[in-house]
Amino acid sequence: MAYIEIAGGKQLIGEVNIQGSKNAVLPILAATVLINGITKLNHCPRILDVYHMIKILEAIGCVVTWEGSSLIVDTLRLNTSIVPEILVKKMRSSIVLMGALLGRTHSVTITYPGGCTIGARPIDYHLSAFQKMNILLEEKEGQIYCTTTEIKGTDIVLEFPSVGATENTILAAVLAKGKTRIKNAAKEPEITELCKFLNTAGAKITGAGTALIEIEGVDSLYNVEYTTSSDRIVAGTYLAAVAGTGGEVVLKGVKCSCLQSIVRVLQEMGCTIFCGEDYIIISSSGKLKAIPFIKTMPYPGFPTDMQSQMMSVMMRASGISKIVEDIFEGRYQNVQEQVKFGADIKVTEREATIYGVTKLIGCEVYASELRGGAALVISGLMAEGKTIIHNPNFIERGYEDICRDLRCLHADIRYVS
Ligand code: UD1
Repeated sequence: MAYIEIAGGKQLIGEVNIQGSKNAVLPILAATVLINGITKLNHCPRILDVYHMIKILEAIGCVVTWEGSSLIVDTLRLNTSIVPEILVKKMRSSIVLMGALLGRTHSVTITYPGGCTIGARPIDYHLSAFQKMNILLEEKEGQIYCTTTEIKGTDIVLEFPSVGATENTILAAVLAKGKTRIKNAAKEPEITELCKFLNTAGAKITGAGTALIEIEGVDSLYNVEYTTSSDRIVAGTYLAAVAGTGGEVVLKGVKCSCLQSIVRVLQEMGCTIFCGEDYIIISSSGKLKAIPFIKTMPYPGFPTDMQSQMMSVMMRASGISKIVEDIFEGRYQNVQEQVKFGADIKVTEREATIYGVTKLIGCEVYASELRGGAALVISGLMAEGKTIIHNPNFIERGYEDICRDLRCLHADIRYVS
């Protein structure tokens, strides 16, 4: 079985390019279904979740080809709205195909999605928005059958600013009759990016990035070429890695604007960060102060997708840090691996208290989800001696090649297959 091997204790120094954004590209790939034609998507990351999404698109009749780091999606021969269960179970974001297929074919059959095991992750907000848009739902033996004669624009009020529910509602509304208004919409940069992509293809969406998004239905979309922005969570992961190990690194192709909550925390801990036009420079002595309190929240709050990586940094910061995980309750399952490095962490329900230790020791650990796995890589880099991380496939869901990127920064890390 494959694993990642790290000889820890080295400072990170150098420059690294940041890959395209996973959470932007996945809903955009679903959105290509709304275009009865061809999409060229530049700066598309070669990650497992993208490969899964390609398999789903191919299973419903689309033709998908790579041209370097661009992905060409031809949806002209889309021939079914039944999404194969085996593929849906592999990835939660396959659920955004619901809105897109409903828009294109007025029907969809899909199973409840799979994905990382980080909490309950229900889809009730998605389904209730669809019902309000004149879509009939029926659930039978784990399958969801949706049909409509016409999707009708209406006002949708989300109970919580769910990223996926906001995306699904937008996708269902783009070709609907009339105007849809989403209140309490998610404000994540990936929502803004999805809307930018759709507007480039002829959709009429305003308000992306705010709590009120308005979508005026249009008759059709046209062929489009689009370049995906860099992945803010991958960038945040590498910022955290440098913070923890010490060193000086330039992250290329990424702006601070979407990383402000992370940058602020790292600065408070003692890192120096310079925000360039499309690059970020971080330097760290590796000797950081604890952070009294972080709570994960919807954007622009501190992202749940960075909670585990920040915990690694806190493990060796001087003093006591506290995290409240308010989005995905299952994310602390990674703590049982982190303590193997010698970390001192106490978890009670949604709160983790991290008592900084003076050193971490390399060990053998098991990744069980994407961001938790990336956090174990950071801990391995910070630890003295050798670390082995099993189940690297979880990390490959979202990181193109974490070992390649970190080797660019002079880390001693390798992927053993
Ligand atoms: C997306 C991101 C994920 C990120 C998360 C929160 C993608 C592919 N994934 O996931 O990386 O961690 O946003 O920023 O973009 N909820 C419900 N009912 C619903 C929908 C959500 O109760 O119908 C709850 C969830 O259980 C969770 C919270 O709302 O507690 C946020 O979930 P949501 O924003 O929907 O996350 P995802 O879209 O799954």
